[in-house]
Amino acid sequence: MTVNRPFRAGALRGTIRVAGDKSISHRALMIGAVASGTTVIEQPNHGVDVLATRDALIALGAQIDDRGDVMTVGGGALHDPTGPIDARNSGTTTRLLMGLCAGAGVTATFDGDASLRRRPMARVARPLQALGAQVDTTDGRLPATVHGIRSPAGGTFALELPSAQIKSAILLANLNARETVRIVGDRNSRDHTERMLRRFGRRIVFDGRSVELEPGVLVGQRLRIPADISAAAFFVVAAAITPGSDLTLTEVGINSTRTGILEALDSMGASIELRNPRDLDGEPVADIHVGYAPLQAGEIDGDLVVRAIDEIVILAVAAAHAVGTTRIRGAAELRTKESDRLAATTEMLRACGLLVREYDDGLDITGGTARIPIEPLHAHDDHRIAMAVAALAAPTGTHALDDDRSIAVSFPEFTERWAAAQS
Ligand code: S3P
Repeated sequence: MTVNRPFRAGALRGTIRVAGDKSISHRALMIGAVASGTTVIEQPNHGVDVLATRDALIALGAQIDDRGDVMTVGGGALHDPTGPIDARNSGTTTRLLMGLCAGAGVTATFDGDASLRRRPMARVARPLQALGAQVDTTDGRLPATVHGIRSPAGGTFALELPSAQIKSAILLANLNARETVRIVGDRNSRDHTERMLRRFGRRIVFDGRSVELEPGVLVGQRLRIPADISAAAFFVVAAAITPGSDLTLTEVGINSTRTGILEALDSMGASIELRNPRDLDGEPVADIHVGYAPLQAGEIDGDLVVRAIDEIVILAVAAAHAVGTTRIRGAAELRTKESDRLAATTEMLRACGLLVREYDDGLDITGGTARIPIEPLHAHDDHRIAMAVAALAAPTGTHALDDDRSIAVSFPEFTERWAAAQS
């Protein structure tokens, strides 16, 4: 069934709290599930991805009480699930839980939807095999079965990619390691696992390039989840490109491993202000104020891509409204996300009459007069493409989307919050 969703033109105004951070919510649930005592998580993300993690952990023996705004996790030892774990659309659920099981002596089979079955899993299987777990994939993809070991030795791991999911899988596999674990080869991928482990009492040092985790125990915590900068990004860009906008997004995570989007927009001339920066249970947050300003083309490559890995699609929407040609490079990883995001973004912008050149690892986008597409745009079952269409419509006119169901993966309240900002 196709659900045709129109997104309309209009400035964004007022004060909004977007969904809780998806990455941090996954980690709070997983680490809470193996910590001693009780963990209380306030304002967790409630998208389908995080619910996949919640349900997987329950299948692995964790006690989780989900009241929506608060999730309570009773920690303890995990056990083998009675059937395969369905990670649905969630790469983070799969890769991080494969790690957790690999070091907890658990045998589990992981599977997911058609999109997740297309995504590469050998990148996680390899380091887990190196620490002694048996991992059987299906030609490097799902379904995959992990036969975990109980007490890995520890030691040094070199990341084959600057990926927080691989890094986190290695850390979670080594929670019971006998010796110090060192991970090298990072390039500022998100450090939420490291921060969360510290919050739960572990001795850990990390600097964006390497991580060192010492043996120790985890103690349950109470924590509040920041609003997700990756969800805020759609609102930030829409307000930045739509005259008359005046929007504040509250309590947004501004961890420097995630703020590539803000730096890129700043270099393009956007009017963005971070107000009231503060700490929220181990993560930096601020209120982001954004208004309309004319944008210039930008250059997006190198480490900035890693720190904006989920925001390249919405940055492309900003580029479509900037003067000049924005170059995005070093972004081949986008082809392995929920959809091939370089191809899907090219298709989306060309349908609006914009000039886009597609490269193996990036895009050249020439800003100009975007027109209303004739046919509904394709979401490609990818939540970030679907939400980008809403931003694309804001300065231009009604854009139809072929199917908005994927939005629930990360931000079930999106349509309601978007309507509130445009009212
Ligand atoms: C995530 C890490 C990123 C990101 C994904 C969430 C995480 O993936 O794209 O949406 O929570 O660790 P990679 O680490 O594979 O780049």
